[in-house]
Amino acid sequence: MYRQKYASMLENPEILDYGAYLQCDTLLQCQKPLKSLCNQDELQFQIVHQVEELWMKLMIYTLIDVLEFMEKQHSHRVITLMKRVHMIQKMMIEQMDLLETMSPKEYQEIRLQLGNGSGQESPGFRTLVKMPKDMWDIFSEQYLKGRNKSVEAIYDSEYEHDDAYTVAEALIEFDELLQKFRWQHLFLIQRSIGIGSHSLKGRPVDLLKSGAKYQFFPELWEIRNNMTDSWGQSYGKVRESILEKASQSEQ
Ligand code: HEM
Repeated sequence: MYRQKYASMLENPEILDYGAYLQCDTLLQCQKPLKSLCNQDELQFQIVHQVEELWMKLMIYTLIDVLEFMEKQHSHRVITLMKRVHMIQKMMIEQMDLLETMSPKEYQEIRLQLGNGSGQESPGFRTLVKMPKDMWDIFSEQYLKGRNKSVEAIYDSEYEHDDAYTVAEALIEFDELLQKFRWQHLFLIQRSIGIGSHSLKGRPVDLLKSGAKYQFFPELWEIRNNMTDSWGQSYGKVRESILEKASQSEQ
Protein backbone atom coordinates (compact mmCIF):
# COMPACT_ATOMS: atom_id res chain seq x y z
CA MET A 1 0.00 0.00 0.00
CA TYR A 2 2.71 2.49 0.99
CA ARG A 3 4.79 1.48 -2.00
CA GLN A 4 1.94 2.19 -4.39
CA LYS A 5 1.09 5.50 -2.73
CA TYR A 6 4.63 6.91 -2.78
CA ALA A 7 5.67 5.35 -6.09
CA SER A 8 2.77 7.14 -7.71
CA MET A 9 3.91 10.45 -6.16
CA LEU A 10 7.44 9.80 -7.45
CA GLU A 11 6.23 9.08 -10.95
CA ASN A 12 3.64 11.85 -11.17
CA PRO A 13 5.23 14.77 -9.33
CA GLU A 14 3.41 18.04 -8.99
CA ILE A 15 5.46 20.55 -10.99
CA LEU A 16 5.28 24.15 -9.73
CA ASP A 17 7.62 27.02 -10.66
CA TYR A 18 10.62 25.44 -8.85
CA GLY A 19 10.13 22.19 -10.75
CA ALA A 20 9.51 24.00 -14.03
CA TYR A 21 12.72 26.04 -13.74
CA LEU A 22 14.78 22.95 -12.86
CA GLN A 23 12.98 20.81 -15.44
CA CYS A 24 12.24 18.25 -12.73
CA ASP A 25 9.75 16.47 -14.97
CA THR A 26 12.48 15.71 -17.53
CA LEU A 27 15.10 15.06 -14.86
CA LEU A 28 12.98 12.55 -12.96
CA GLN A 29 12.22 10.67 -16.13
CA CYS A 30 15.88 10.03 -16.87
CA GLN A 31 15.72 6.81 -14.88
CA LYS A 32 13.92 3.62 -15.81
CA PRO A 33 10.23 3.54 -14.80
CA LEU A 34 10.04 1.97 -11.33
CA LYS A 35 8.21 -1.08 -12.66
CA SER A 36 10.99 -1.89 -15.13
CA LEU A 37 13.85 -1.83 -12.61
CA CYS A 38 15.49 -5.25 -12.41
CA ASN A 39 15.96 -5.04 -8.61
CA GLN A 40 16.00 -2.68 -5.62
CA ASP A 41 19.53 -1.46 -6.42
CA GLU A 42 19.16 -0.52 -10.05
CA LEU A 43 17.73 2.94 -9.33
CA GLN A 44 20.69 3.69 -7.10
CA PHE A 45 23.05 2.44 -9.82
CA GLN A 46 21.52 4.69 -12.46
CA ILE A 47 21.29 7.76 -10.23
CA VAL A 48 24.89 7.54 -8.97
CA HIS A 49 26.17 7.33 -12.54
CA GLN A 50 23.89 10.14 -13.72
CA VAL A 51 24.88 12.42 -10.84
CA GLU A 52 28.55 11.75 -11.57
CA GLU A 53 27.98 12.71 -15.22
CA LEU A 54 26.36 15.95 -14.07
CA TRP A 55 29.29 16.75 -11.78
CA MET A 56 31.67 16.11 -14.68
CA LYS A 57 29.60 18.44 -16.87
CA LEU A 58 29.96 21.21 -14.26
CA MET A 59 33.66 20.46 -13.86
CA ILE A 60 34.31 20.70 -17.62
CA TYR A 61 32.27 23.90 -17.86
CA THR A 62 34.28 25.39 -14.97
CA LEU A 63 37.59 24.26 -16.48
CA ILE A 64 36.76 26.10 -19.72
CA ASP A 65 36.69 29.30 -17.63
CA VAL A 66 39.92 28.24 -15.93
CA LEU A 67 41.64 27.90 -19.32
CA GLU A 68 40.54 31.40 -20.31
CA PHE A 69 41.56 32.96 -16.99
CA MET A 70 44.94 31.22 -17.15
CA GLU A 71 45.47 32.70 -20.61
CA LYS A 72 45.00 36.15 -19.05
CA GLN A 73 46.99 35.24 -15.92
CA HIS A 74 43.98 36.12 -13.76
CA SER A 75 45.35 33.86 -11.06
CA HIS A 76 42.86 34.72 -8.31
CA ARG A 77 40.01 33.61 -10.58
CA VAL A 78 41.93 30.46 -11.50
CA ILE A 79 42.46 29.56 -7.83
CA THR A 80 38.81 30.15 -6.88
CA LEU A 81 37.50 28.11 -9.80
CA MET A 82 40.02 25.32 -9.25
CA LYS A 83 38.83 25.14 -5.64
CA ARG A 84 35.32 24.50 -7.00
CA VAL A 85 36.69 21.80 -9.31
CA HIS A 86 38.54 20.13 -6.41
CA MET A 87 35.38 20.15 -4.29
CA ILE A 88 33.44 18.46 -7.08
CA GLN A 89 36.19 15.86 -7.48
CA LYS A 90 36.08 15.07 -3.74
CA MET A 91 32.29 14.70 -3.86
CA MET A 92 32.56 12.39 -6.85
CA ILE A 93 34.98 10.15 -4.97
CA GLU A 94 32.79 10.07 -1.87
CA GLN A 95 29.56 9.51 -3.77
CA MET A 96 30.93 6.52 -5.64
CA ASP A 97 31.03 4.70 -2.28
CA LEU A 98 27.23 4.59 -2.24
CA LEU A 99 27.47 1.71 -4.67
CA GLU A 100 29.37 -0.35 -2.12
CA THR A 101 26.01 -0.82 -0.35
CA MET A 102 24.97 -3.00 -3.32
CA SER A 103 25.53 -6.73 -2.99
CA PRO A 104 27.65 -8.56 -5.61
CA LYS A 105 24.60 -10.59 -6.60
CA GLU A 106 22.40 -7.54 -7.12
CA TYR A 107 25.13 -6.03 -9.26
CA GLN A 108 25.33 -9.16 -11.42
CA GLU A 109 21.60 -8.78 -12.11
CA ILE A 110 22.08 -5.11 -13.04
CA ARG A 111 25.08 -5.98 -15.20
CA LEU A 112 22.81 -8.07 -17.40
CA GLN A 113 21.05 -4.79 -18.33
CA LEU A 114 24.15 -2.95 -19.54
CA GLY A 115 24.69 -4.41 -23.01
CA ASN A 116 28.41 -4.05 -23.60
CA GLY A 117 28.51 -0.49 -22.30
CA SER A 118 31.33 0.41 -19.92
CA GLY A 119 32.45 3.43 -17.92
CA GLN A 120 35.12 3.99 -20.52
CA GLU A 121 32.34 5.35 -22.73
CA SER A 122 31.42 8.00 -20.13
CA PRO A 123 31.01 11.22 -22.16
CA GLY A 124 32.07 13.36 -19.19
CA PHE A 125 35.20 11.37 -18.42
CA ARG A 126 36.29 11.20 -22.06
CA THR A 127 36.13 15.00 -22.36
CA LEU A 128 37.65 15.61 -18.94
CA VAL A 129 40.82 13.64 -19.63
CA LYS A 130 41.45 15.74 -22.75
CA MET A 131 41.60 18.97 -20.74
CA PRO A 132 44.88 18.63 -18.76
CA LYS A 133 46.92 18.94 -21.97
CA ASP A 134 45.44 22.37 -22.70
CA MET A 135 45.80 23.32 -19.03
CA TRP A 136 49.49 22.44 -19.12
CA ASP A 137 50.12 24.19 -22.48
CA ILE A 138 48.62 27.44 -21.19
CA PHE A 139 50.42 27.18 -17.84
CA SER A 140 53.76 26.69 -19.65
CA GLU A 141 53.10 29.53 -22.05
CA GLN A 142 51.87 32.09 -19.53
CA TYR A 143 53.47 31.25 -16.20
CA LEU A 144 56.74 29.68 -17.37
CA LYS A 145 57.83 30.90 -20.82
CA GLY A 146 55.97 34.21 -20.49
CA ARG A 147 57.80 34.97 -17.23
CA ASN A 148 61.08 33.35 -18.15
CA LYS A 149 60.71 30.90 -15.25
CA SER A 150 61.13 27.17 -14.87
CA VAL A 151 59.22 24.77 -12.64
CA GLU A 152 62.47 24.37 -10.67
CA ALA A 153 62.70 28.14 -10.07
CA ILE A 154 59.07 28.40 -8.95
CA TYR A 155 59.42 25.51 -6.50
CA ASP A 156 63.01 25.83 -5.29
CA SER A 157 65.76 28.25 -6.35
CA GLU A 158 63.46 31.30 -6.68
CA TYR A 159 60.63 30.02 -4.49
CA GLU A 160 58.45 32.81 -3.19
CA HIS A 161 55.01 31.15 -2.99
CA ASP A 162 53.81 33.44 -5.81
CA ASP A 163 50.77 33.01 -8.06
CA ALA A 164 52.66 30.72 -10.48
CA TYR A 165 53.30 28.39 -7.52
CA THR A 166 49.70 28.45 -6.26
CA VAL A 167 48.33 27.85 -9.77
CA ALA A 168 50.79 24.94 -10.22
CA GLU A 169 49.63 23.49 -6.89
CA ALA A 170 46.00 23.82 -8.01
CA LEU A 171 46.90 21.81 -11.12
CA ILE A 172 48.64 19.12 -9.13
CA GLU A 173 45.70 18.87 -6.73
CA PHE A 174 43.45 18.29 -9.75
CA ASP A 175 45.80 15.56 -11.01
CA GLU A 176 46.02 13.91 -7.59
CA LEU A 177 42.22 13.90 -7.21
CA LEU A 178 41.84 12.33 -10.66
CA GLN A 179 44.19 9.57 -9.53
CA LYS A 180 42.27 9.16 -6.27
CA PHE A 181 39.01 8.90 -8.22
CA ARG A 182 40.50 6.13 -10.36
CA TRP A 183 41.85 4.25 -7.32
CA GLN A 184 38.55 4.58 -5.45
CA HIS A 185 36.78 3.26 -8.54
CA LEU A 186 39.13 0.25 -8.47
CA PHE A 187 38.11 -0.45 -4.85
CA LEU A 188 34.46 -0.30 -5.94
CA ILE A 189 35.15 -2.78 -8.73
CA GLN A 190 37.07 -5.03 -6.32
CA ARG A 191 34.03 -4.98 -4.02
CA SER A 192 31.43 -5.66 -6.73
CA ILE A 193 32.79 -7.75 -9.62
CA GLY A 194 36.30 -8.51 -8.38
CA ILE A 195 39.59 -7.15 -9.65
CA GLY A 196 40.47 -10.41 -11.41
CA SER A 197 37.45 -10.23 -13.74
CA HIS A 198 36.94 -8.83 -17.25
CA SER A 199 35.08 -5.70 -18.30
CA LEU A 200 32.03 -5.82 -20.56
CA LYS A 201 34.45 -5.03 -23.39
CA GLY A 202 36.35 -8.22 -22.53
CA ARG A 203 39.42 -6.40 -21.13
CA PRO A 204 41.00 -7.50 -17.84
CA VAL A 205 39.84 -5.09 -15.13
CA ASP A 206 43.40 -5.05 -13.83
CA LEU A 207 44.34 -2.83 -16.80
CA LEU A 208 42.62 0.07 -15.03
CA LYS A 209 45.56 0.17 -12.60
CA SER A 210 47.82 1.73 -15.23
CA GLY A 211 45.26 4.52 -15.70
CA ALA A 212 45.13 5.04 -11.94
CA LYS A 213 48.90 5.57 -11.89
CA TYR A 214 48.83 8.00 -14.82
CA GLN A 215 50.11 11.52 -14.12
CA PHE A 216 48.73 14.34 -16.26
CA PHE A 217 51.33 16.90 -15.15
CA PRO A 218 54.56 14.86 -14.92
CA GLU A 219 56.79 17.96 -14.64
CA LEU A 220 55.00 19.00 -11.45
CA TRP A 221 55.51 15.55 -9.91
CA GLU A 222 59.09 15.28 -11.14
CA ILE A 223 60.16 18.47 -9.37
CA ARG A 224 59.55 16.74 -6.02
CA ASN A 225 61.95 13.93 -6.94
CA ASN A 226 64.52 16.36 -8.25
CA MET A 227 64.37 18.51 -5.13
CA THR A 228 64.81 15.50 -2.86
CA ASP A 229 67.79 14.35 -4.93
CA SER A 230 69.43 17.76 -5.04
CA TRP A 231 68.79 18.66 -1.38
CA GLY A 232 69.87 15.14 -0.46
CA GLN A 233 73.25 15.53 -2.17
CA SER A 234 74.65 17.12 0.97
CA TYR A 235 73.94 14.00 3.04
CA GLY A 236 73.51 11.20 0.49
CA LYS A 237 70.58 8.81 0.65
CA VAL A 238 70.81 7.93 4.36
CA ARG A 239 71.81 10.40 7.03
CA GLU A 240 73.74 9.92 10.21
CA SER A 241 71.36 9.32 13.13
CA ILE A 242 70.70 12.37 15.30
CA LEU A 243 71.24 10.25 18.44
CA GLU A 244 74.62 8.93 17.26
CA LYS A 245 75.74 12.45 16.36
CA ALA A 246 74.75 13.70 19.84
CA SER A 247 76.58 10.89 21.65
CA GLN A 248 79.71 11.49 19.53
CA SER A 249 79.77 15.17 20.45
CA GLU A 250 79.37 14.29 24.16
CA GLN A 251 82.50 12.08 24.08
C1 HEM B 1 29.61 -1.35 -9.33
C2 HEM B 1 29.97 -0.26 -9.92
C3 HEM B 1 30.96 -0.20 -11.04
C4 HEM B 1 31.60 -1.20 -11.70
C5 HEM B 1 31.51 -2.70 -11.47
C6 HEM B 1 32.43 -0.59 -12.70
C7 HEM B 1 33.23 -1.27 -13.58
C8 HEM B 1 34.06 -0.72 -14.52
C9 HEM B 1 34.92 -1.47 -15.40
C10 HEM B 1 35.03 -2.98 -15.44
C11 HEM B 1 35.58 -0.56 -16.16
C12 HEM B 1 36.59 -0.88 -17.29
C13 HEM B 1 35.87 -0.76 -18.58
C14 HEM B 1 36.62 -1.22 -19.81
O1 HEM B 1 37.76 -1.68 -19.74
O2 HEM B 1 35.97 -1.12 -20.87
C15 HEM B 1 35.14 0.75 -15.76
C16 HEM B 1 35.60 1.93 -16.29
C17 HEM B 1 35.16 3.16 -15.88
N1 HEM B 1 34.13 3.42 -15.00
FE1 HEM B 1 33.22 2.11 -13.81
N2 HEM B 1 32.29 0.77 -12.64
C18 HEM B 1 31.38 1.05 -11.64
C19 HEM B 1 30.94 2.29 -11.26
C20 HEM B 1 31.34 3.47 -11.82
C21 HEM B 1 30.88 4.78 -11.41
C22 HEM B 1 29.87 5.10 -10.30
C23 HEM B 1 31.48 5.66 -12.22
C24 HEM B 1 31.25 7.13 -12.12
C25 HEM B 1 31.63 8.01 -12.97
C26 HEM B 1 32.33 4.92 -13.14
C27 HEM B 1 33.12 5.46 -14.13
C28 HEM B 1 34.01 4.76 -14.89
C29 HEM B 1 34.99 5.41 -15.75
C30 HEM B 1 35.19 6.91 -15.90
C31 HEM B 1 35.72 4.40 -16.36
C32 HEM B 1 36.93 4.57 -17.28
C33 HEM B 1 38.09 4.59 -16.28
C34 HEM B 1 39.48 4.82 -16.80
O3 HEM B 1 39.69 4.87 -18.02
O4 HEM B 1 40.36 4.93 -15.93
N3 HEM B 1 32.21 3.60 -12.86
N4 HEM B 1 34.21 0.62 -14.75
